[in-house]
Amino acid sequence: MRAVCPGSFDPITHGHLDIVRRAGALFDEVIVAVGRNSAKNYLFDTDQRVDMVRASVADLPGVRVEVLSGLLVDFCRAQGAEVVVKGLRFASDFDFELQMAHINHSLTGLETVLLPASAQWGTLSSTMVREVASLGGDVSAFVPALVAERIEQKRNARG
Ligand code: PNS
Repeated sequence: MRAVCPGSFDPITHGHLDIVRRAGALFDEVIVAVGRNSAKNYLFDTDQRVDMVRASVADLPGVRVEVLSGLLVDFCRAQGAEVVVKGLRFASDFDFELQMAHINHSLTGLETVLLPASAQWGTLSSTMVREVASLGGDVSAFVPALVAERIEQKRNARG
Protein backbone atom coordinates (compact mmCIF):
# COMPACT_ATOMS: atom_id res chain seq x y z
CA MET A 1 0.00 0.00 0.00
CA ARG A 2 1.18 3.51 -0.86
CA ALA A 3 0.92 6.32 1.72
CA VAL A 4 1.30 10.08 1.53
CA CYS A 5 2.84 12.26 4.27
CA PRO A 6 1.71 15.81 3.44
CA GLY A 7 2.96 19.01 5.02
CA SER A 8 4.54 22.41 4.54
CA PHE A 9 7.92 21.34 5.92
CA ASP A 10 9.08 24.92 6.53
CA PRO A 11 11.56 23.51 7.36
CA ILE A 12 11.54 19.71 7.77
CA THR A 13 12.38 18.71 11.39
CA HIS A 14 13.41 15.51 13.16
CA GLY A 15 9.76 15.23 14.21
CA HIS A 16 8.63 15.05 10.55
CA LEU A 17 11.40 12.59 9.72
CA ASP A 18 10.37 10.35 12.59
CA ILE A 19 6.81 10.15 11.17
CA VAL A 20 8.08 9.52 7.60
CA ARG A 21 10.40 6.75 8.83
CA ARG A 22 7.64 5.07 10.81
CA ALA A 23 5.21 5.40 7.87
CA GLY A 24 7.91 3.71 5.77
CA ALA A 25 7.88 0.76 8.16
CA LEU A 26 4.09 0.44 7.90
CA PHE A 27 3.57 0.94 4.15
CA ASP A 28 5.29 -0.32 0.99
CA GLU A 29 5.91 3.16 -0.36
CA VAL A 30 5.75 6.67 1.09
CA ILE A 31 5.37 9.90 -0.85
CA VAL A 32 6.29 13.01 1.09
CA ALA A 33 4.07 15.75 -0.39
CA VAL A 34 5.37 19.28 0.05
CA GLY A 35 2.43 21.67 -0.10
CA ARG A 36 1.46 25.25 0.37
CA ASN A 37 -1.07 26.39 2.93
CA SER A 38 -2.43 29.73 1.66
CA ALA A 39 -2.92 30.91 5.26
CA LYS A 40 0.82 30.63 5.99
CA ASN A 41 3.79 32.88 5.24
CA TYR A 42 6.77 30.68 4.48
CA LEU A 43 10.43 31.20 5.42
CA PHE A 44 11.58 28.93 2.56
CA ASP A 45 9.96 28.85 -0.87
CA THR A 46 8.57 25.61 -2.31
CA ASP A 47 11.74 24.69 -4.25
CA GLN A 48 13.89 25.19 -1.16
CA ARG A 49 11.52 23.17 1.04
CA VAL A 50 11.38 20.33 -1.51
CA ASP A 51 15.14 20.37 -1.84
CA MET A 52 15.68 20.08 1.94
CA VAL A 53 13.07 17.30 2.25
CA ARG A 54 14.67 15.37 -0.67
CA ALA A 55 18.10 15.56 0.92
CA SER A 56 16.72 14.56 4.33
CA VAL A 57 14.91 11.41 3.11
CA ALA A 58 17.54 10.37 0.54
CA ASP A 59 18.67 7.44 2.70
CA LEU A 60 15.15 6.11 3.34
CA PRO A 61 14.19 3.24 1.01
CA GLY A 62 10.75 3.45 -0.59
CA VAL A 63 10.37 7.16 0.17
CA ARG A 64 10.10 9.86 -2.50
CA VAL A 65 9.19 13.54 -2.53
CA GLU A 66 6.66 15.41 -4.70
CA VAL A 67 5.14 18.88 -4.80
CA LEU A 68 1.52 19.02 -3.64
CA SER A 69 -0.72 21.56 -5.34
CA GLY A 70 -4.50 21.54 -5.30
CA LEU A 71 -6.52 19.19 -3.16
CA LEU A 72 -4.77 16.45 -1.21
CA VAL A 73 -7.43 13.92 -2.29
CA ASP A 74 -6.73 14.67 -5.98
CA PHE A 75 -3.00 14.35 -5.41
CA CYS A 76 -3.47 10.98 -3.67
CA ARG A 77 -5.70 9.70 -6.47
CA ALA A 78 -3.19 10.78 -9.13
CA GLN A 79 -0.38 9.07 -7.21
CA GLY A 80 -2.37 5.89 -6.55
CA ALA A 81 -2.13 6.39 -2.77
CA GLU A 82 -4.99 5.24 -0.53
CA VAL A 83 -3.76 6.51 2.84
CA VAL A 84 -2.56 9.77 4.37
CA VAL A 85 -0.24 9.58 7.38
CA LYS A 86 0.03 12.52 9.77
CA GLY A 87 1.76 12.96 13.11
CA LEU A 88 -0.16 13.90 16.25
CA ARG A 89 1.44 15.91 19.02
CA PHE A 90 -1.14 17.63 21.21
CA ALA A 91 -4.91 17.93 21.36
CA SER A 92 -5.01 20.89 18.98
CA ASP A 93 -3.40 18.72 16.28
CA PHE A 94 -6.13 16.16 16.79
CA ASP A 95 -8.95 18.69 16.46
CA PHE A 96 -7.55 19.91 13.15
CA GLU A 97 -6.55 16.51 11.76
CA LEU A 98 -9.92 14.97 12.59
CA GLN A 99 -11.64 17.66 10.53
CA MET A 100 -9.22 17.11 7.62
CA ALA A 101 -9.62 13.33 7.84
CA HIS A 102 -13.40 13.64 7.74
CA ILE A 103 -13.50 15.98 4.75
CA ASN A 104 -10.94 13.94 2.82
CA HIS A 105 -12.85 10.72 3.51
CA SER A 106 -16.13 12.35 2.44
CA LEU A 107 -14.56 13.61 -0.79
CA THR A 108 -13.01 10.39 -2.13
CA GLY A 109 -12.89 7.77 0.63
CA LEU A 110 -9.24 8.65 1.33
CA GLU A 111 -8.20 7.12 4.67
CA THR A 112 -6.05 8.87 7.30
CA VAL A 113 -3.70 7.21 9.78
CA LEU A 114 -2.69 9.42 12.73
CA LEU A 115 0.61 8.41 14.34
CA PRO A 116 1.39 9.72 17.81
CA ALA A 117 4.63 11.71 17.73
CA SER A 118 7.54 10.01 19.48
CA ALA A 119 8.11 11.31 23.01
CA GLN A 120 11.46 12.79 21.94
CA TRP A 121 9.85 15.05 19.34
CA GLY A 122 6.45 15.26 21.00
CA THR A 123 6.08 19.04 20.91
CA LEU A 124 8.60 20.05 18.25
CA SER A 125 7.30 22.26 15.44
CA SER A 126 8.69 24.10 12.43
CA THR A 127 7.21 27.27 13.95
CA MET A 128 9.40 26.86 17.08
CA VAL A 129 12.45 26.12 14.91
CA ARG A 130 11.85 29.29 12.87
CA GLU A 131 11.33 31.35 16.06
CA VAL A 132 14.56 30.10 17.68
CA ALA A 133 16.46 30.58 14.42
CA SER A 134 15.16 34.10 13.84
CA LEU A 135 16.36 35.12 17.33
CA GLY A 136 19.84 33.75 16.75
CA GLY A 137 19.48 30.41 18.57
CA ASP A 138 20.99 27.06 17.65
CA VAL A 139 18.46 24.72 15.99
CA SER A 140 20.88 21.93 15.12
CA ALA A 141 19.31 19.53 17.67
CA PHE A 142 15.92 19.77 15.98
CA VAL A 143 16.61 19.58 12.23
CA PRO A 144 18.92 17.63 9.88
CA ALA A 145 22.39 19.16 9.46
CA LEU A 146 21.65 20.40 5.93
CA VAL A 147 18.57 22.27 7.15
CA ALA A 148 20.55 23.89 9.98
CA GLU A 149 23.08 25.02 7.33
CA ARG A 150 20.35 26.48 5.09
CA ILE A 151 18.87 28.37 8.04
CA GLU A 152 22.31 29.75 8.86
CA GLN A 153 22.83 30.80 5.22
CA LYS A 154 19.46 32.58 5.18
CA ARG A 155 20.30 34.34 8.45
CA ASN A 156 23.66 35.49 7.09
CA ALA A 157 22.09 36.64 3.82
CA ARG A 158 19.57 38.74 5.78
CA GLY A 159 22.32 40.17 7.92
O1 PNS B 1 0.15 20.83 8.24
P1 PNS B 1 0.51 21.86 7.19
O2 PNS B 1 1.98 22.03 7.08
O3 PNS B 1 -0.15 23.19 7.43
O4 PNS B 1 -0.04 21.25 5.83
C1 PNS B 1 -0.01 21.99 4.66
C2 PNS B 1 -0.69 21.24 3.50
C3 PNS B 1 -0.34 21.95 2.22
C4 PNS B 1 -0.21 19.82 3.43
C5 PNS B 1 -2.23 21.25 3.74
O5 PNS B 1 -2.67 22.56 3.86
C6 PNS B 1 -2.97 20.51 2.62
O6 PNS B 1 -3.16 19.31 2.67
N1 PNS B 1 -3.39 21.26 1.59
C7 PNS B 1 -4.04 20.71 0.43
C8 PNS B 1 -5.45 21.27 0.26
C9 PNS B 1 -6.44 20.31 0.84
O7 PNS B 1 -6.66 19.24 0.33
N2 PNS B 1 -7.02 20.69 2.01
C10 PNS B 1 -7.89 19.78 2.73
C11 PNS B 1 -9.32 19.86 2.34
S1 PNS B 1 -10.07 21.39 2.76
